[in-house]
Amino acid sequence: MIAPSVPAAEPAAPPQLRVPVTRFATDQDDQWIEELQAIAFGPGRFARTAFRVRERFPIDKSLTLVAEVDGTPCGSVWMTPISVGGIDGYLLGPLATHPNFRRLGAGKMLCRNVVKLALGRGEGKFVLLVGDQDYYMLLGFEKTQHGAIQFPGPVDPQRVLLVSPDPALAQSLAGPIAAFGAGKTA
Ligand SMILES: CC(C)(COP(=O)(O)OP(=O)(O)OC[C@H]1O[C@@H](n2cnc3c(N)ncnc32)[C@H](O)[C@@H]1OP(=O)(O)O)[C@@H](O)C(=O)NCCC(=O)NCCS
Repeated sequence: MIAPSVPAAEPAAPPQLRVPVTRFATDQDDQWIEELQAIAFGPGRFARTAFRVRERFPIDKSLTLVAEVDGTPCGSVWMTPISVGGIDGYLLGPLATHPNFRRLGAGKMLCRNVVKLALGRGEGKFVLLVGDQDYYMLLGFEKTQHGAIQFPGPVDPQRVLLVSPDPALAQSLAGPIAAFGAGKTA
């Protein structure tokens, strides 16, 4: 006997996986990125030494990435083209994730993707940042030579970290932070 056909159950709504994805930022993202940075770093962000670098050298907006979870923007990262000792590279930061979306992997995804994107262009040889070793060394960043890279203000040398396809660069890069391309005009 043929079993009566049972109508197929409606597929259940997919669970909200809260998996981050990244995309390029647009001009429409500018304002909320500033607001996110204010939430993440507070008013003290303007006194940070990395901020002074970004005052002198503009960020590359084509390297600004945004993280989204379920279509909601929740994180961002900026890159500033710089050079040190005549070698071109990038300063990463600020990297920020909104407090409601932390520990979902957005921060690490933004960091990994922006490093890959920037170094993949083949124009810069390193990505530098000032940040926590515990977070960034898991992402391939290494300690630099103590005090060798000179910032336009005080930094904790332990927090000056670098990633590069050149395994020797973290220990050899030295000099003041200058404009991207500065070495080529010397
Ligand atoms: C740091 C920050 C970007 C991480 O964002 P996030 O999206 O939560 O990061 P992820 O989800 O990829 O990683 C979270 C993991 O990193 C750990 N982590 C976060 N900040 C850390 C830090 N400063 N040092 C060490 N580990 C850290 C978390 O405990 C978490 O660990 P778990 O995976 O074992 O639970 C976010 O906390 C933030 O915006 N903080 C304020 C701004 C800031 O400090 N930015 C970094 C300096 S530029």
